[in-house]
Amino acid sequence: MNVIITGASRGLGKAIAEKFAGAGDRLFLSSRQESALNKTINALSAQFPNSSVSGKAFDLSVSDQARQFGRWVLDAGFIPDILVNNAGSFQPGSVYDEADGVLEELMAINLYGAYHLTRTLLPAMMKEKKGHIFNICSIASLQAYPNGGAYSITKFALAGFSRNLREEMKRYGIKVTAIFPGAAFTDSWAGSGIDPGRIMESADVAAMLFAASRLSPQATVEDIVLRPQLGDL
Ligand SMILES: NC(=O)c1ccc[n+]([C@@H]2O[C@H](COP(=O)([O-])OP(=O)(O)OC[C@H]3O[C@@H](n4cnc5c(N)ncnc54)[C@H](OP(=O)(O)O)[C@@H]3O)[C@@H](O)[C@H]2O)c1
Repeated sequence: MNVIITGASRGLGKAIAEKFAGAGDRLFLSSRQESALNKTINALSAQFPNSSVSGKAFDLSVSDQARQFGRWVLDAGFIPDILVNNAGSFQPGSVYDEADGVLEELMAINLYGAYHLTRTLLPAMMKEKKGHIFNICSIASLQAYPNGGAYSITKFALAGFSRNLREEMKRYGIKVTAIFPGAAFTDSWAGSGIDPGRIMESADVAAMLFAASRLSPQATVEDIVLRPQLGDL
């Protein structure tokens, strides 16, 4: 299968890439920093020689670069079976005092990047009448909380994107799954002082996504909500 994963250099995206590479799939990865991305590509290629792993760095918060990533895959002659819109950025804050521009900055990567990449790939996928799109939302897409601010707003928006896409794609045989993880230990949490044992592992999110990708064409998992065993922080 051809699997596209954004934000795959580390964190949840890398854990998801490991799962599909382990199944011998053909991976197309992206993130912003080229050196970190290449390091991940080389590590996955060495660990999973039966898979094919390639990638290219793009700043997906720039709409034209999000389109370019999609075209890079299509121009190579590959139509995605699975697209994972995972790249995202987190900044705590409150609507009343966060800096000007934070909403625009987070919206650009957390929503617009996914929107423009998906739109670039959809016509080819719709022609095939199959495929599966995963959008990595958040518990912050479902529930407002103090210090959620612009981040939470953008994640609600991504869930709205996912809901719309699900309705639009039903008749094209394309599945759409929104994933709503609570806290999972990644670089986003490094330096926070949180005990990694208190929250989920990246591999937990990857395992659920992978399982949802393996159902029959007649079945779609619409939503996956995962939380740490002890609940949200
Ligand atoms: N970890 C959690 O607790 C948690 C919980 C709920 C939801 N999520 C969501 O899960 C996703 C992954 O989170 P994570 O914790 O794994 O984050 P992370 O460790 O910070 O990794 C983020 C990934 O996205 C890439 N990225 C960020 N901005 C980008 C841009 N403008 N263009 C292209 N790539 C970009 C990063 O690469 P570069 O650094 O090279 O840009 C990196 O590969 C995010 O959407 C996040 O909101 C995470």
